[in-house]
Amino acid sequence: MISLEGVAKSFAAGPRPFEAVAPLCLRVGSGEVFGIIGFSGAGKSTLLRLINLLERPTAGEIWVGGQRLDLLDAAALRQARRRIGMIFQQFNLLHNHSALENVCFPLRIAGLKGEAVAARARQCLELVGLADKAAHYPAQLSGGQKQRVAIARALATEPQVLLCDEPTSALDPHTTRELLAVLRDINQRLGVTIVIVSHSLAVVRALCDRVAVMENGRVVEELDLRQAEPPQPRSDAARRLFEAV
Ligand SMILES: Nc1ncnc2c1ncn2[C@@H]1O[C@H](COP(=O)(O)OP(=O)(O)O)[C@@H](O)[C@H]1O
Ligand SMILES: [Mg+2]
Repeated sequence: MISLEGVAKSFAAGPRPFEAVAPLCLRVGSGEVFGIIGFSGAGKSTLLRLINLLERPTAGEIWVGGQRLDLLDAAALRQARRRIGMIFQQFNLLHNHSALENVCFPLRIAGLKGEAVAARARQCLELVGLADKAAHYPAQLSGGQKQRVAIARALATEPQVLLCDEPTSALDPHTTRELLAVLRDINQRLGVTIVIVSHSLAVVRALCDRVAVMENGRVVEELDLRQAEPPQPRSDAARRLFEAV
């Protein structure tokens, strides 16, 4: 579903460009839940944002659903991005719009009109268990509810892929567990491929099939979490992350 081939990202910074993501290859299968874990500044968000071209790669090829994204023009990229939803740590909801209107937003941008917009938006709110909160404004919702609205909005255009950047980092442990259950449900019921960035091993363990450990812009290790026995990290970064729990 996702294939990054020799992808790298440098930022202009003073005399020498800063390499936030060193050339790497990464593949995520259809229906997989893939984690990206690492300490702050490791390059996790940059790597995630490369997948939907929010960051433009300075090298390599980005493939999603069999389509090479880094060669598309702006219009084709907008179209392709409908197949890739994204949620963020700070929810990024429109504050002066109700939950329902927030979910309607991407549908209108996609050109959907009339009754179909609200109908599909309601369906998405139902999917995340918030049908009864459609008329509420973000300020009237808890953190967990806001993130569920953001998930509903991200799913509105029926994406094949959902990118999640630290989606539970602003939530308490109980709400985090609830939100992880929503994500698991979406993966299992809709078959949506999920890539989730986190600095929490507990989050990654609870949700992911596989995880890439990042340090200094590099994937230093990939671990398979589907095994019965606990994973044996080899890299220093992974060991320190595992000890930090
Ligand atoms: N737009 C940018 N311009 C310059 N440097 C950036 C930019 N975005 C990220 N970086 C740098 O790239 C590195 C990785 O950042 P990021 O991907 O946000 O890490 P993480 O999500 O793992 O905390 C950091 O050193 C950060 O300062
Ligand atoms: Mg980040």
